[in-house]
Amino acid sequence: MKIAIIGTGNVGGALATRWAQAGHTIILGVRDLQNFKGKELLANPDTTTTDIPTAVQAAEVILIATPAPVAVEIAKSLGNTAGKIIIDSMNIVMKRGPEGYSTTAQAILDHTTTKEVIKCFNTTGYNNMMNPVYHGTAIDLFMAGDSDQAKSIVRQLALDAGFAECYDIGGNDKFELMEQFAFFWINLAMFKGQGREIGFKLLKR
Ligand SMILES: NC(=O)c1ccc[n+]([C@@H]2O[C@H](COP(=O)([O-])OP(=O)(O)OC[C@H]3O[C@@H](n4cnc5c(N)ncnc54)[C@H](OP(=O)(O)O)[C@@H]3O)[C@@H](O)[C@H]2O)c1
Repeated sequence: MKIAIIGTGNVGGALATRWAQAGHTIILGVRDLQNFKGKELLANPDTTTTDIPTAVQAAEVILIATPAPVAVEIAKSLGNTAGKIIIDSMNIVMKRGPEGYSTTAQAILDHTTTKEVIKCFNTTGYNNMMNPVYHGTAIDLFMAGDSDQAKSIVRQLALDAGFAECYDIGGNDKFELMEQFAFFWINLAMFKGQGREIGFKLLKR
């Protein structure tokens, strides 16, 4: 698939690398072509850089991995996204988010033309996106959004990034639960001393 990466830092960089290695075409959408985080990503296969609206127009799927407070600004800068899938990986941490919103995904929905916004890749650390395997077993991801068709594509992208499964936890009404689940990971990793090398896996019987 053709994937635009908006926000080429820890999360955007990890997923850009995994997806490029899996054979996807990666277009980094950056605000300053001369000076942006993740310049080394251009050494990955089939990876180019351009301005944000051009990257979006060239892509079928758009990953947004910028700080949450600029979610509205970013959404407005994308141009026409009708028919495209947007993956929102952002988290509002310590109430630092877009004004008037409890989730970044809703802020994106309200300021773009697509209806296909899926919240995913926000519930674990970027270190787990670089390497989701623990002692030979890959951890899981979770996602929420109203579009089943978009979720089936996002699930495949999670598998392409090396995760074992990406569970559908519901529609747009579960965006907030995804933010809370991310904070659960952050709380354990950062505030309760478990460190970043932890991940979630759903066990069944
Ligand atoms: N770090 C994690 O483990 C983790 C895990 C899950 C989710 N998240 C969430 O993912 C998001 C990104 O986190 P990160 O750690 O990857 O951040 P990061 O490494 O600081 O990267 C942020 C990226 O956003 C870009 N950016 C910032 N402001 C922008 C603007 N106004 N317009 C366009 N681009 C802008 C930066 O571009 P420049 O290069 O131009 O500065 C940079 O590429 C956050 O919302 C975070 O909560 C993080």
